Amino acid sequence: MTTSPSPGRLRQMQIYVPGVGGARPRVPVAPDALEAKAAAAMSPVAAAYIVGGAGMESTMRANRAAFDRHRFVPRVLNDVSARDLSVELFGRRHAAPVLLAPIGVLEMVHSEADLAVARAAAAEGIGYVFSNQASVAMEKTAAAMGTAPRWFQLYWSSDDGFVRSLVSRAEACGCEAIVVTLDTTLLGWRPRDLDKASLPFLKGQGLAQYLSDPVFRAAIPAKPPETGVKPKGLGVIEALLSLRRKGREFGLPIGQVRAAVGHFVATYSRPDLTWADISRLRQMTKLPILLKGVRHGDDARLAREHGVDGLVVSNHGGRQVDGEIATLDALPGVVAAAGGMPVLMDSGIRSGADVAKALGLGARAVLLGRPYVYGLALAGQAGVGEVIRNIVAELDLTLALIGRTRAEGLTGDVFG
Ligand code: FNR
Ligand code: LAC
Repeated sequence: MTTSPSPGRLRQMQIYVPGVGGARPRVPVAPDALEAKAAAAMSPVAAAYIVGGAGMESTMRANRAAFDRHRFVPRVLNDVSARDLSVELFGRRHAAPVLLAPIGVLEMVHSEADLAVARAAAAEGIGYVFSNQASVAMEKTAAAMGTAPRWFQLYWSSDDGFVRSLVSRAEACGCEAIVVTLDTTLLGWRPRDLDKASLPFLKGQGLAQYLSDPVFRAAIPAKPPETGVKPKGLGVIEALLSLRRKGREFGLPIGQVRAAVGHFVATYSRPDLTWADISRLRQMTKLPILLKGVRHGDDARLAREHGVDGLVVSNHGGRQVDGEIATLDALPGVVAAAGGMPVLMDSGIRSGADVAKALGLGARAVLLGRPYVYGLALAGQAGVGEVIRNIVAELDLTLALIGRTRAEGLTGDVFG
């Protein structure tokens, strides 16, 4: 029996008791209100980048619709007084089946960016997947996490030496898995960003893993590459100030930062990536390798053949392909083909009930995406902490109220 209140009841009381005195949560609990308040607090370019998706955003809607379509059939009289939310992943027990997804360019919404997220994740005992496009170098983020679990997400650059360097840095700073993201070998077509003509990387944002990397730095060309396109207008001053700040932060002259941005654009991704590269990654590291962005069962089978340890069913939160399958709909097929390999999922998860649905369809855990960024935008580290606590609280209560006591091993019978 638990003696301390469960996460669900504890969180309710943290909110309802101060509410007697008139206090209201500054980070909204209702998912739509959270998104709306956070978007309003962001700059218009940040809101476009974070909230938006690919094309007409039908994949984002499909992700949500799939959660809505799946409905629990609760059981009763099952003694649910004590719940266990923990799950095991790659030999480590996680306090809850939730990790924070890799999300780049967090400096757009908060100056402490990844550091605030790392501190919140560690304080809540939740894992964090460091983004390849982070605003803070992984060594600093890792140092803020104590012994809390962290993984590293890799974008495979066309410079193999740099990839090796990133992987060895991740190993050295205690990352417990490498997550290779495969749905973003090219950036998707994103009308909200295109209409604002805004790509944060061109201002040097979201490049901390690059500007802090010895192999990447050694490869920066002496001069910025000639693109033939010259930006004009007031925005140029702001962009130059941003590049100068990056130069100070990473000890590079501004010309070198401009050249680094050009080098990043030239080498950022590998649309020619194949399974042979995954085999090479298998040789590079002993850490568990997860592939993020798998939606087809055949790719799950191929992953097994190539020594992969886990999968993340993801469509990048609907940011890459408009009109693709919802991840919750893709999940069962991938789980069936994965042959027992752990399968995680993300995209569209907005609540603890969503987490329970994903687990019911075979996910071992989920990655939480945009909602924690909304918490960050509204209240920094504390805001991320509140969003995590709300999701875990609702998961805890949902489990109890559908007549279950353990997050681990949930099956499709939660749907009746
Ligand atoms: C992302 N995502 C992402 N994924 C990744 O592997 N590396 C990255 O750097 C980023 N960056 C990124 C930035 C922003 C602003 C967003 C919203 C998302 C995708 C992320 O890991 C995750 O798959 C989605 O966020 C999940 O969808 P929801 O929950 O946000 O709908
Ligand atoms: C994005 C990249 C950074 O979704 O993953 O914007």
